[in-house]
Amino acid sequence: MTRPARQWALVLGVTAGTGGSIAREVARDPGLDIIGFHRGNFPDEAARLIADVAALGHRAALIRGDAGDPARISDCVAEVRNVVPQGSIKLFVHSLSGASLGHFLDDRGDAFHPKQFEKTFNNLAHSFPYWARALHEAQLFAPEARLVGLTNVLHHQMLHNLGLIAAAKAALESYVRYLSVELGRHGHRVNLLQFGTVVTPALRRVMGPGALARLDEIHARMIPAGRMCTVEEVARMVRLLTMDETTWFNGALIDFTGGMTQHLFDLVMPPD
Ligand SMILES: NC(=O)c1ccc[n+]([C@@H]2O[C@H](COP(=O)([O-])OP(=O)(O)OC[C@H]3O[C@@H](n4cnc5c(N)ncnc54)[C@H](OP(=O)(O)O)[C@@H]3O)[C@@H](O)[C@H]2O)c1
Repeated sequence: MTRPARQWALVLGVTAGTGGSIAREVARDPGLDIIGFHRGNFPDEAARLIADVAALGHRAALIRGDAGDPARISDCVAEVRNVVPQGSIKLFVHSLSGASLGHFLDDRGDAFHPKQFEKTFNNLAHSFPYWARALHEAQLFAPEARLVGLTNVLHHQMLHNLGLIAAAKAALESYVRYLSVELGRHGHRVNLLQFGTVVTPALRRVMGPGALARLDEIHARMIPAGRMCTVEEVARMVRLLTMDETTWFNGALIDFTGGMTQHLFDLVMPPD
């Protein structure tokens, strides 16, 4: 296979939040063209992203579709193949959201329905290996392609009604570890980037300004730097993972929480 002139980043969940920032950052450096999926809930962000990437001299092909639905993934990959030549996806980023909140018991009347288990796991976890396999079989990955999953601190902690997200992220962590070996044998790298809360349009929409201010205040105490991480900082870290210097990261759970996880016990057990 001759090496295509241009390389691409495929971002699942490309318009809002973390995925959108990563797309902009890797279009800038190392200069990847962008192909991504979204369901159409953020049309203004989608239009802005296409314009921003075009201004950098790159192409952004944004496709509307549910990238977390296992039944649709082969159709989605066929759409990718229509745009992207074989051997040209340098970076695959899985930035899908779409999880249910609730509890495992019904004490509060919000017990998870089996459909919510299925949807949350499809979006946050199962879609990662399904996509990885389909892209591999379609020979779309470039040599030494980088596959990046995004996770939070929840599967190592406990927080109220976020148990299903925690469970799905634990599954994602295992998928990344196994895929790093299976795809590693084909020369690719598969890693999981762990970061604390970042403010995204979706988060803004779900929480009012009051709740956001509270989040800010809580994180200022939880994170030694005294502030929350930003999507731009996460995007710059993902850009680093495309570089030759980071080629030895494989199967890694990369702690990018700014010391948030280390600091928690310190908070709940202050010195006498
Ligand atoms: N935000 C945080 O604090 C944080 C912290 C650590 C890790 N993470 C992880 O980072 C990832 C992205 O989170 P985020 O907060 O950036 O999400 P977000 O703000 O909700 O944005 C998600 C993006 O994905 C698209 N999307 C969601 N589900 C989709 C689906 N099934 N098919 C196609 N597109 C879909 C959304 O657009 P449409 O709605 O139009 O489809 C949007 O562009 C998640 O895996 C999350 O767990 C987030």
